[in-house]
Amino acid sequence: MYNLLKGKKGIIFGALDSKSIAWKVAERAHEEGATFVLTNAPVALRLGTISELAEKTGSTVIPADATSMMDLENLIDKSVEILGGKIDFVLHSIGMSVNVRRGNHYTNQDYNFTKTGFDVSALSFHRVMSMLYKKDAMNEWGSVVALSYMAAQRVFPDYNDMADNKAYLESVARSFGYFFGRDKKVRVNTISQSPTPTTAGSGVKGFDGFIAYAEKMSPLGNATALECADYTITLFSDLTRKVTLQNLFHDGGFSNMGVSTAIMENFMEDFKSDEVVEEPKKKEKK
Ligand SMILES: NC(=O)c1ccc[n+]([C@@H]2O[C@H](COP(=O)([O-])OP(=O)(O)OC[C@H]3O[C@@H](n4cnc5c(N)ncnc54)[C@H](O)[C@@H]3O)[C@@H](O)[C@H]2O)c1
Repeated sequence: MYNLLKGKKGIIFGALDSKSIAWKVAERAHEEGATFVLTNAPVALRLGTISELAEKTGSTVIPADATSMMDLENLIDKSVEILGGKIDFVLHSIGMSVNVRRGNHYTNQDYNFTKTGFDVSALSFHRVMSMLYKKDAMNEWGSVVALSYMAAQRVFPDYNDMADNKAYLESVARSFGYFFGRDKKVRVNTISQSPTPTTAGSGVKGFDGFIAYAEKMSPLGNATALECADYTITLFSDLTRKVTLQNLFHDGGFSNMGVSTAIMENFMEDFKSDEVVEEPKKKEKK
């Protein structure tokens, strides 16, 4: 590989199983010469297979619920101790909506679930950065990355309240990134990733359609979890030191597309078959 992270120290949140984006980031960071601490919520540590990853990458696992300041403080203190110095990179790869899990429609949310999802998926990013900042735990020219999705800008009906959480997450990257940059020379960005078949991704209703549609729309096709990891590594490396406050699309070009020929061909096939079946009166479309 390229030794892009040689000597760098990090904290990686969110590796649940081998499909997780954070899992791939950990594998790639290890290949690029980094040492890091892996962390996840205590319940996820029981359900997932993170110990396999820890063994493979020579990492320590420290449990932390990203909604608990106490857990985050302990995580950061212990990480600095174990890694033998301040942190160079942090990955926030955390997302969960209770409304999505319970099948509540966007227009009819259980607001206690909404609050929980917001705390886990969005506010946790502020909490993590706030703790790193207060403890002065990041090295100069360090890099913090969180993962987002384009529903922060555009409507994807089944993404539900996660769309609002991602909009907040991206905003926090800018707002906190300003202070982190000005005061500590730390950069903060979000990567807006293609739909990816992971545990969190597959929880979204109609995910198969979602992923197939994005694949046909994007000139380069959907970006995989491993490709997302590669991109993340560049943002942790010294090659991107002046990139900050950005939401960076990593989606094969999807975000700038209007329509692709593949989508149009599919649409026209359906359109024609509707005409054949329903002539002379066209079927009313929802
Ligand atoms: N999969 C996709 O289609 C897709 C697309 C764009 C962005 N993303 C984002 O990528 C990130 C990673 O998700 P993934 O797709 O790898 O799925 P994943 O299910 O593998 O990862 C989500 C992680 O969040 C962790 N988590 C949940 N509650 C937590 C808490 N209270 N404290 C700490 N950790 C907690 C889970 O244990 C899990 O490891 C998320 O932010 C997700 O929204 C995913």
